[in-house]
Amino acid sequence: MKKRFLGKMMRLTIVMLFMVLHVIAWEPMPEGYELIDGPHAHDNVSIGVWRDKWSNWKEMELKTYRYSPKDRASVYNTKALQWTQTSLLQVFVMMHDRMLFDRKTNQYTVDRFLSTFDLKFDSVLLWPSYPNLGIDTRNQWQLWHSLPGGIHGLKKLVDDFHARGVRVFLPYLPWDTATHDPNPLKSRYQSDIEELYKLFDATGADGVNGDTLFGVPSSFYRATEGKATCPEGGVPTWDLATNPMSWGYYYGFSSFPPVARAKFLEPRHMVQICSRWSLNRGLEFQISHFNGAGYVLWENIWGIWNGMTVREIETLKRTMMINQQFAFAIPSLQWTPHIPDLPKDLHASKFPVEISKLTFYTIICTNNQVYDGPMSLVLDEFLDASNVAVYDLYYGQKLQVVASGRSIQFSVHVEEYGYGALLVVAQGSEPEWLTTFLSTMHNQTKAPLASYDTQRPLLKQKMTSESSAAVVVSVDATSKAEPSNPKVIELLNLVEIAGVDAWNFTVDGVQIEPVPAWTPNGKDYGVGVQFPWEDRPYPHHATELWIEDFYIMKYPVTNAQYQTFLKASGYVPSDLHRFLLHWDHRHVNSTEYAPISSWIVPDSIANQPVVHVSLEDAQAFASYYGLRLPHDWEWQYVASNGLAYTKLPYGNDLDASRHPTIQRNGDSILSDDVDAFSSGCSTSNSICALIGHVWELTDSFCDTRTCSVLVRGGSSYQPVTSSLRDPNWYFPSIASTTKHGKFLTLSASYDRAATIGFRCAL
Ligand SMILES: *[C@@H]1O[C@H](CO)[C@@H](O)[C@H](O)[C@H]1NC(C)=O
Ligand SMILES: *[C@@H]1O[C@H](CO)[C@@H](O)[C@H](O)[C@H]1NC(C)=O
Ligand SMILES: *[C@@H]1O[C@H](CO)[C@@H](O)[C@H](O)[C@H]1NC(C)=O
Ligand SMILES: *[C@@H]1O[C@H](CO)[C@@H](O)[C@H](O)[C@H]1NC(C)=O
Repeated sequence: MKKRFLGKMMRLTIVMLFMVLHVIAWEPMPEGYELIDGPHAHDNVSIGVWRDKWSNWKEMELKTYRYSPKDRASVYNTKALQWTQTSLLQVFVMMHDRMLFDRKTNQYTVDRFLSTFDLKFDSVLLWPSYPNLGIDTRNQWQLWHSLPGGIHGLKKLVDDFHARGVRVFLPYLPWDTATHDPNPLKSRYQSDIEELYKLFDATGADGVNGDTLFGVPSSFYRATEGKATCPEGGVPTWDLATNPMSWGYYYGFSSFPPVARAKFLEPRHMVQICSRWSLNRGLEFQISHFNGAGYVLWENIWGIWNGMTVREIETLKRTMMINQQFAFAIPSLQWTPHIPDLPKDLHASKFPVEISKLTFYTIICTNNQVYDGPMSLVLDEFLDASNVAVYDLYYGQKLQVVASGRSIQFSVHVEEYGYGALLVVAQGSEPEWLTTFLSTMHNQTKAPLASYDTQRPLLKQKMTSESSAAVVVSVDATSKAEPSNPKVIELLNLVEIAGVDAWNFTVDGVQIEPVPAWTPNGKDYGVGVQFPWEDRPYPHHATELWIEDFYIMKYPVTNAQYQTFLKASGYVPSDLHRFLLHWDHRHVNSTEYAPISSWIVPDSIANQPVVHVSLEDAQAFASYYGLRLPHDWEWQYVASNGLAYTKLPYGNDLDASRHPTIQRNGDSILSDDVDAFSSGCSTSNSICALIGHVWELTDSFCDTRTCSVLVRGGSSYQPVTSSLRDPNWYFPSIASTTKHGKFLTLSASYDRAATIGFRCAL
């Protein structure tokens, strides 16, 4: 999740002076350590001086860290990992993405997901954890098991991606240290390596993304038998021999275009440039194309859509079509960024491939004017200027060339802020696919990039009181309770709440991102929800509401009440995975569930809030009794005592003795009876167990890609990560009436948490 460099864009950084600190694995690195500033001028002399300086630095750096490109144990010489060197385009996927998973059918839909793009992905990063991790004691590994179909389902998903030529990365989150400990006899770090290994073994995934890591420690590489490791925070030189890939957050340069430091040290290293909250992807595409680096396409950011513009999609498509076709040249050891004496504001890199008698060039234009004019290149020694053919790969055409000595001259056309690519090849050595490729590119680039739309799409959310999933209640309709039936009111202890004409609903989402310092337009791109009266999602909300009279349950629904409902209604969810996981006798044996009617609620928990229920499970209960889930504002109206606007149900000052005891880590969450803390009830209506018992389900929201539910009140489980350096990335806890949590929903099985329950309203 780390993202520290944003907002400091273009700030002068002295890259040379970084300090080498390797105290703990996720020790932050100095700003700018992923980059080498470009030369300040682009004439032959200036670039010569720049290149000498950085070549000397490189020699010293490699010597210092005993790095040898020929080391047979290095990842770049490992056969099984050669694919990483050409793995350019990655897509970041929230597992919650509705294009990847269909909640109605409980199936992954890989084709539907991939067909939403007109791009060829080399790899996918599957992300099930943050920002939900920490909602209960499930650790990052257990969350995989919570997915529909568990690990078998995940393996099938990985297979589906493989069948479409897409490699699969899974994340490792080193900060996850307060959830269930896989093996208390070992260090958490050691256990994590073992768990990761098991996960790779079971799924056949290809690589690990080291979240928050500056270099994935080599122990991971050894433990995972040569799977690819890709640290989020870039790669320090000491991990270069074991990390074939890394992400690049490229900020803090003063001279454009900057050079990828890790690739400069080892051209076979694949850097994938990345920026989650970016509002100008053109800048990233230019750095990526210039360096022959990869790109992480990341549009679904924790459930908020920061989508690409049509122009950005077209740009990425064109540059990746070229670079993926010439991916064989990208790891060239003779890679040379910054070719001297180019026309002003054109910048180029070359990737010579002597064995194929060709050199591939990438070009970018940093001017707001089209460049249409001459260009000359001094050729590599293995090419004979009088006997080469030159192709403009971007426009898909052969160029007229004039040779003089080792130089060639020709004319090029590069769009404003545009992209280009050249192939210089010994005549007769053209690859056989070249003609077809040229005509494809010729067609693709007919319209100028400037003709494509630059409007950034924003996905609007709909508040969906009813779950989008079909609720299967196998029950005779006539046996349903009537709404406002006095028996139901008594049975479920519903209390009438008097409304008010004008009430100020002011509430804050506690989602961690955006952290303003990292996010240039943080105020515009909060990870929040969109209420019906709002024009887009926001993290903070304030409005005046008319509150109608309503009923709400005095306590959250208990296990005993839920069991009564099950017996009366015959409700059977379509997927029993994790349904009422804390009840007894759910299974006949290791593979078969017992009939739900024979599941047992242990006496000790009968009067505790029911948990391990999905939205569907909660809605089935509510609708059976003619009830519904409360709106987010209704919950707050009750908990903050209406016009009294108290911060807590019993007043304004937090009093720990009025709530269940807080748990910071551990395996099982100790719960309390719903009526255990009568001193914690609301003062105006005596509604109880509102704070610190279980998160309570309120309103749900969906855009076309992600759904979420607002949860209220907080639970007694409040994990705290043990790293001193990282923020606490766990699902933030709450002890307040004016804050809500946003839980991203995925499948019934995944959503069923040990800390999420509900109460009903009418
Ligand atoms: C450019 O500089 C290099 C040394 O950095 C030198 O070998 C070469 O001759 C120069 N070329 C021109 C055209 O000045
Ligand atoms: C030509 O380009 C258009 C627009 O990008 C595309 O729809 C079409 O399939 C292309 N045709 C060929 C033959 O590549
Ligand atoms: C709600 O807040 C607004 C702005 O602070 C204020 O003008 C208004 O009077 C408040 N309404 C109520 C009912 O307190
Ligand atoms: C589990 O129980 C079912 C139903 O009684 C039976 O068909 C199945 O063979 C059992 N499986 C195992 C692994 O014992």
